Amino acid sequence: MSQPYESILIERRDRVAIITINRPEKRNALNIQTRAEGAAALDELSEDESVRVVIFTGAGDKAFVAGADIAEFAGRTALAQRAVMLDRGLFNAVDTFPKPVIAMVNGYCLGGGCELALACDIRIASETASFGQPEINLGIIPGGGGTQRLTRLVGEGKAMEMILTGEIINAQEAFRLGLANHVVPADQLQTKTMEVANRIAEKSPVALRLAKEAVKAASRSNLDEGLRREVDLFALCFSSEDKDEGVSAFLEKRKADFKGK
Ligand code: COA
Repeated sequence: MSQPYESILIERRDRVAIITINRPEKRNALNIQTRAEGAAALDELSEDESVRVVIFTGAGDKAFVAGADIAEFAGRTALAQRAVMLDRGLFNAVDTFPKPVIAMVNGYCLGGGCELALACDIRIASETASFGQPEINLGIIPGGGGTQRLTRLVGEGKAMEMILTGEIINAQEAFRLGLANHVVPADQLQTKTMEVANRIAEKSPVALRLAKEAVKAASRSNLDEGLRREVDLFALCFSSEDKDEGVSAFLEKRKADFKGK
């Protein structure tokens, strides 16, 4: 990577890049620097054609991300907080990232950590993970998309209960709600996550990008608009060499070799 980072680590495993939030002594709480570095890393990985899938995780065995860095809240004015949040944020960078992003949830996934996981496309959790939006305990509310993305994912009733009570739920409950796609024993978390990431990384990057955009349109538009968007994005696939390769490979009974063109 061209940029040195202090609060995150980046590791490549073939076509998969792993971004680790690296503040374990603060349970990987997201301070301003960490958010900025995460967004900058995504900008770099976005341009890198050798990277097809990104994984977010947290350093250590306790936390994925235990939320926004609460120490930064002390003494901050409303205007200063608004300016921080209106700046191009990490969560939106994840949401609009043109490649699939997986949250590998290895522990506490709270507040802004839960919002980071929610901005990701898939969440894979260790049995030791826990999820929650405990902002209400601080006299504030989720501000990184929690009220919107959690509600869309698990429904209004359960999102309302989690946000109003600040209740922290275990990984099995998160799985039951659809908040976690998979729950595995802690020692199998990396294997399971890499298995899913590698399976995705074999697909056409063009089709992955358009599929992500189409699925995201579902919660941002009404059915007619969403279906129309799907047709446009489906048709756009026909402009790619990957579509020719995928169809030829099927007809020739061989494995497709997608180039992302
Ligand atoms: N922001 C800033 N610092 C945090 C933090 C956060 N969100 N979460 C944890 N830390 C810090 C603690 O202040 C402590 O720092 P210190 O060693 O300098 O005192 C360190 O991380 C370890 O935390 P600790 O509470 O001792 O660890 P734990 O394993 O016993 O508990 C949590 C972990 C996540 C349950 C607990 O730290 C917690 O409740 N954190 C806040 C969660 C939250 O409200 N998030 C939403 C924020 S909007």
